[in-house]
Amino acid sequence: MKYPEKFITELVERNDIVDVVSGYVRLGKKSGSNMFGLCPFHSEKTPSFSVSPDKQIYHCFGCGKGGGVINFIMEIENLSFPEAVEFLARRAGMPLPEQENDAESRKRARMLALNRDAARFFYEQLSTPAGQAARDYMARRRIGPATAKNFGIGFAPDSWDSLRNAMKARGYNDFEMADAGLVRRGKTSGFYDTFRGRLMFPVIDVRGNVIGFSGRILGDGEPKYMNSPETLVFNKSRNLFALNLAKKSKSGYIILAEGNIDVVSLHQAGFDSAVASLGTSLTAEQARLLSRYTKEVIIAYDNDGAGIKAAQRAIGILERLDIKVRVLRMSGAKDPDEFIRLRGPDAFRNLLEASEDQMDYRLRNLLEQYDLGIDEQKVGFLKEATNLVAECSNRMERQVYAMRVAALAGIAQEAVVKEVERRRAQKYRAAQKAAERRQASPEQELQPKERELRYDDPGSAAAEEGVIRLLFMDPALAKRAALPAQEDFSAPALGRIYGILRGKIERGETVSTATLGGELSGEEMSLLVRVLQKPELLSRGEQALADYIRKIQEHKESRREGTDLLQLQKKLKETKGYRG
Ligand code: UTP
Ligand code: MN
Repeated sequence: MKYPEKFITELVERNDIVDVVSGYVRLGKKSGSNMFGLCPFHSEKTPSFSVSPDKQIYHCFGCGKGGGVINFIMEIENLSFPEAVEFLARRAGMPLPEQENDAESRKRARMLALNRDAARFFYEQLSTPAGQAARDYMARRRIGPATAKNFGIGFAPDSWDSLRNAMKARGYNDFEMADAGLVRRGKTSGFYDTFRGRLMFPVIDVRGNVIGFSGRILGDGEPKYMNSPETLVFNKSRNLFALNLAKKSKSGYIILAEGNIDVVSLHQAGFDSAVASLGTSLTAEQARLLSRYTKEVIIAYDNDGAGIKAAQRAIGILERLDIKVRVLRMSGAKDPDEFIRLRGPDAFRNLLEASEDQMDYRLRNLLEQYDLGIDEQKVGFLKEATNLVAECSNRMERQVYAMRVAALAGIAQEAVVKEVERRRAQKYRAAQKAAERRQASPEQELQPKERELRYDDPGSAAAEEGVIRLLFMDPALAKRAALPAQEDFSAPALGRIYGILRGKIERGETVSTATLGGELSGEEMSLLVRVLQKPELLSRGEQALADYIRKIQEHKESRREGTDLLQLQKKLKETKGYRG
């Protein structure tokens, strides 16, 4: 969807980034010209997330995310560019201009239609003769027909082309199916079904779109699950299995489980607010999504080492969003599915009611690691426990837990409370220092955070960044300079940003993070913002630009000589047996 530049520019003007971000992040006092807060995109205890009111951009020194106000809304509300534009237009009370449907949104709509048709196909297979194996498996797992219908559970026949043929008959071609991850291209012959002989769980987003699939093998075998790959419409880390159903629950909390089967069993047993992350550990984006629907999450992970570890991680992520977290303690069963099968729904409800708040849970975990009868171990326990309690941001809570720790260890309350507050102050000072250091030397962060964006030739990349920065700040400089070609850039990502930026300037279009937002990927936008963070003096812009360009050409030259040398060496080796 393409919006006119003028509209985007006005939209950004009417949505001040500080106002918008403040709706999600508590921004602390200014440090320099920037404001700081806790990053909403990754889990942290000390503020690395900065917002620049002057530049109207945000940037996280921790996770590297950054962009303008539209990017912020895309990230935090989990929206596409046009959706974020709509969101901000509504916020500012601006009517949307007429928009043409562009190729990407058509493709998206088509993929969703294909997924829906595929889900229907899988569901229908359940009642065919070939579906007998799936019906048997479901009976063994006690998944009833009403539950299958509720979740849209289906069956992918054990065949190379049954889905492919059915979708062909409905007018979809192989390339569309491959893009959706439903078929794959064989090494020698044509395309074949991705999911074969599997129980199929459609993944449905909160708007009711079928965005992907998770397929479990019937019985034992590897891999146990196959999931749709990332596609135009499917992003595992931004969606949760069954949230489309759980969001309608009246229970007031959401149950976070590990497995699809656990979620299905829970719903069947009447716990209609169960969800699962899609085979990954809970991400910050999923937590953010949850926070739109609930204030309380009960973690019901598997009863094993991995489950306990995953729970600890999830606690941290959820807490950051002010979600109340409780953790369910299960014994005598490995997961909620088995627990319900063995003990029934009422027993599970008791577990839910008895679930502990996260601090109790963590303290008890600690307690299990130490033998308090031994002085040395008691000291170890106290160290860790006071450290844990010191992380509570609420003073009253710290007091309550400090008293509990004192009781557990059998020592004076006063001493524990004091120790907790001392550690709290220590943490605070360390955080301040770290923030100051980052402010003082932003150049320390020489390499981009994203691994795929690492620079091969840092010297050239620094100059490439400089060119982008100067042109962004003062597009008029472009007229007076002999600009390099995009191919002269050593870093492909910087080259792409430069190419797009240069195109805009040459067409006389507005240059801003907002107008570039529709054309750059999220990663490229983060990189651009990081580049813009570094200091640059515009007063001598023309000279600086010329210097950067010269540097780029020099580096290009020496890279070429380098490859020439390599080639020469290779040739010598071949012809004369030369060793170098
Ligand atoms: P589990 O192995 O616990 O699966 O993995 P489950 O759904 O509880 O199934 P049962 O009860 O053992 O039959 C938990 C989740 O991790 C993802 C799936 O989303 C699964 O539901 N997973 C697991 C994968 O993505 N791939 C795998 O190979 C295994
Ligand atoms: Mn499981």
